[in-house]
Order: sequence, then structure tokens, then C-alpha cells
Amino acid sequence: MTSIAVCPGSFDPVTLGHLDIIQRGSNVFDEVIVAVLHNRNKVPLFSVEERLELLKKATEHIPNVTIDSFNGLLIDYVKQKQAKAIIRGLRAVSDFEYEMQAASINKKLGPDVETFFMMTSNQYSYLSSSIVKEVAKYEADVSDIVPPVVAEALKAKFSSSPRNK
Ligand code: PNS
Repeated sequence: MTSIAVCPGSFDPVTLGHLDIIQRGSNVFDEVIVAVLHNRNKVPLFSVEERLELLKKATEHIPNVTIDSFNGLLIDYVKQKQAKAIIRGLRAVSDFEYEMQAASINKKLGPDVETFFMMTSNQYSYLSSSIVKEVAKYEADVSDIVPPVVAEALKAKFSSSPRNK
């Protein structure tokens, strides 16, 4: 039986921390679907289409990873894809409370689906998409914390419109 896992998130934009989790997840599961949430509560820097494109380029070297987006409840999407697992990265204790609540409600709504947590590699433990955007806004070098394609996209975003700053 093929083991399919969903790695959900906002990915606004994908960082090397995300990529680390996706890569390691792809070593464990037959197929990893990276799923971008259409989140109406947050105003994103990158549109869903842009985020999908960046993720596709950043993961093109990993054959068993596919990129998709979803609306609504994660657990419904996971069931629709006939996946049995959700992959999430944990950076620090501060992530734990939210992740435990999310895993618990997902378990209640979909008892057959397991959430797998992976500790983010140490060098990325401080990293988040928000931190990346914060420093990229001031044109700092982000080339060692995001994939090259994202560094380019951030440069283009923040150099094209001073109003973004
Ligand atoms: O990258 P993020 O913003 O930490 O990802 C959060 C995400 C997308 C995994 C979470 O918000 C989510 O699953 N949203 C879909 C709605 C849902 O299923 N909510 C119940 C579980 S929290």
C-alpha cells in the first residue's frame, strides 16, 4: 500500500526550514503532498498561485513530492487524498501548544489519520516565513534561509514597490 502524507501550511513563502521538513518527510513516506491553505484570515505577501509556483520550483529535485492547495478543513482534504498522515515541523516549545490542539482536533475529526511531528533541524529552529519577510523587506540577504527562487521573488516583491515597505 502506498503511504501518502500531507504537509500543510501557509508557505508565505517557503523557507529552508519548510524544505528541510518536506525533504525528510519524503524519505519516510512514498508520497508527500505539500498543501497550501487558502487562508482568508491572513493577508499574504504572495498569492496562492505564486506560493504554489515557488514550492514547485523549490521541490522539483524531490520526485515523490507534489504541490497542491486546499480550502476548508485540513482533515477533509487529507481524507479526500486518501492520505493517512499529516506532517508538521516543530521548531520550539512555543509551537507545541497550537500543534497539540490542531493534532487533537484532527484526530477527533479523522481518527484514522496520524499527525507526525519532526523537529526542525537546529540551524532552522529560529526561522519562520514572517521573519524572512521582515528582513527581506529591508533588502537584507536571505539567500541562506530561503531557496534561491524565493530569494529572487522576495527581491522582486520589495524592489518593485516602495509602498510594500
Ligand atoms: O503554516 P501554518 O500557517 O502554520 O499552517 C497552519 C495550517 C494550514 C496547517 C492550519 O491552519 C490548518 O490546517 N488550517 C485549515 C483549517 C483546519 O483544518 N483547522 C483545524 C485544525 S487547526
